[in-house]
Amino acid sequence: MKISVIGCGYLGAVHAASMAEIGHEVVGIDVDDAKIASLAKAEAPFFEPGFEELLERTLATGRLRFSTDFADAAGSAVHFVCVGTPQKRGEYAADMRYVQGAVESLLDVLSPGELVVGKSTVPVGTAAQLADLIADKAPGALLAWNPEFLREGFAVQDTLHPDRLVYGLPAGADGDTARALLDEVYAPIVERGTPKVESDYATAEMVKTAANSFLATKISFINAMAELCEATGADVKLLADAIGFDDRIGRKFLNAGLGFGGGCLPKDIRAFMARAGELGADQALTFLREVDNINMRRRIRMVELAREVCDGSLLGKRVAVLGAAFKPDSDDIRDSPALNVAAQLQLQGAVVRVTDPAAIENSRRQWPQLDYAATPEEAAERADAVLVLTEWKQYRELDPEAFGRVVKQKRVLDGRNALDREAWTAAGWTYRALGRRAG
Ligand code: UGA
Repeated sequence: MKISVIGCGYLGAVHAASMAEIGHEVVGIDVDDAKIASLAKAEAPFFEPGFEELLERTLATGRLRFSTDFADAAGSAVHFVCVGTPQKRGEYAADMRYVQGAVESLLDVLSPGELVVGKSTVPVGTAAQLADLIADKAPGALLAWNPEFLREGFAVQDTLHPDRLVYGLPAGADGDTARALLDEVYAPIVERGTPKVESDYATAEMVKTAANSFLATKISFINAMAELCEATGADVKLLADAIGFDDRIGRKFLNAGLGFGGGCLPKDIRAFMARAGELGADQALTFLREVDNINMRRRIRMVELAREVCDGSLLGKRVAVLGAAFKPDSDDIRDSPALNVAAQLQLQGAVVRVTDPAAIENSRRQWPQLDYAATPEEAAERADAVLVLTEWKQYRELDPEAFGRVVKQKRVLDGRNALDREAWTAAGWTYRALGRRAG
């Protein structure tokens, strides 16, 4: 099939290459010249394991190309809208201008029988409004809403092997047409027996925000337990293991620590609250405000813990921060808890050196006032405390014996409960973590 993908960020670029991988002829379109130029050269504009290989492979087939010209979307049977919906400045609501702009630009190229497929995370009600716009300005073209659940770091795998497909479809015969087109797009995925949920637009839109809200709630739940563990001397890691054995609860997303960040969970729960307010249902989501609060408190607690281990004052203390990305296997620093803590430490007088295997360049751009180092050893040279704030494999596998020879004081703060406490304490380190007793 001929497919266009509008917006070539994490979502769109991976989607475009994945659609080419399963045999379609795809054009990826974005307004950012630099991004398009690098994608066209098979250079990933962001760090995503396996993506560059996929890009190289699919570009070589000739089925994938990139363009900054919207006219190149003309003639595609299906047009995926994959642009961002960031948080509005100074407000909780999502900024819808890119989605609106993408659909408006598509109106000029749409022909009857073509399908626009929204993948962006949007406030419920958006699809119905866009469907009206399309019916008015491009009669005969259709709209479906097909949320995406990919995780950064696993984007390729999640796109090619999703755990479910959700189709938000128009009513009646139009719904049948849209379903048939989506089934054709996703043929290998559908044929594999991937669960499929078909619904109206509003349900499909809400599936995405509900899923991200649930994940955020699960993380804040265990972090609230961590606060209690800190007050009682209990151990949140053992607690999570024990409750996680119950299938109904499950161990995934129960890792206590610095909490969630990134370009999705924080802004999605806020946009969801804002939308509920507009709909007069704000009470239903007031708990998400608490989810957000618990999450933000973890960052403050981490700074306090650092002060505690530095004998009550951060002034002039050398602090190494291992990790800047919002999670491992990513160079994404949007709302990164690690960088947030690093900046707070610096503002409170510590001499902070940050390292990360992939995110230093991005971090330097956003926080030029922080000091950066290429390796953990360099960052930790003569340090008074080492904070592990993103659980990269490289940091989990550090040898505490050898690493201990680099620092001035063997004090480690495990912000992600990711280190082997016994090994670090055996090597003479003072070990502190959120929700666990000092080791
Ligand atoms: C999230 C969702 O997991 C995806 O399903 C969704 O498609 C995506 O948002 C999106 O809306 O596009 P992502 O932002 O890539 O994916 O990252 P997650 O793996 O969900 O992690 C989010 C944050 O939670 C990270 O900062 C991570 O460190 C933190 N986290 C995760 C915890 O603190 N504890 C955990 O147990 C798990």
